[in-house]
Amino acid sequence: MEGSYSIKFKPCNVVLIILLITSSTNLIYALEKTHVEFIRTSCNLTTYPTLCFNSLSTQAHAIQTSQKLLAQTALSVTLNTTLTTSSSMVKMSKVHGMNPREVAAMEDCIELLSDSVDKLQKSLEEMSRPGSKDTGLVMSDIQTWVSSALTDEDTCSEGFKDDPKMKSVVRGKTVIVARLTSNALALINSYASLNG
Ligand SMILES: *[C@@H]1O[C@H](CO)[C@@H](O)[C@H](O)[C@H]1NC(C)=O
Ligand SMILES: *[C@@H]1O[C@H](CO)[C@@H](O)[C@H](O)[C@H]1NC(C)=O
Repeated sequence: MEGSYSIKFKPCNVVLIILLITSSTNLIYALEKTHVEFIRTSCNLTTYPTLCFNSLSTQAHAIQTSQKLLAQTALSVTLNTTLTTSSSMVKMSKVHGMNPREVAAMEDCIELLSDSVDKLQKSLEEMSRPGSKDTGLVMSDIQTWVSSALTDEDTCSEGFKDDPKMKSVVRGKTVIVARLTSNALALINSYASLNG
């Protein structure tokens, strides 16, 4: 006990520990920077690069520099946002003062979002499946599912074409989901093109 106590506080050990902490902090910082730059560069090929970067940079530690993890995380972010949007639509549809036509349009919209959730979930499961081969066939299924999810979201606000105010509220909510989906599709396409 006495021995280890004195070793801990030898000045040269303290200097060594400080050096170790400083250099590993620098290393972690450099790695983090590389990971963040990877996301910035990859997001640059999407249609909404700022949204892409903002939605993914917080996951830099998990993505590192993997195109596959980047595409998977983009899918996961899109799925989670679609779920949140869908539940906020459910809440809105229960608000008093919405006429039956609007309630019906809202229900259609919720159903479309739920279809999107199914497609995004299926894509994410397929991409995350252990031993998944990333064959052209699997990737092409995923590309099809995600692009039809995108169509669903675009169709959503059309249900409110006779009600500009409601249409703009619904559009505001679904546009983010549609843009995230579009970005995820671009990142999936980019990953798929790497894997032939
Ligand atoms: C993004 O792309 C544009 C041109 O397409 C290029 O000028 C810019 O440097 C790129 N930015 C990054 C961070 O790669
Ligand atoms: C999406 O939600 C799930 C379940 O709550 C969570 O485990 C996952 O980390 C979330 N994905 C992202 C990218 O935040």
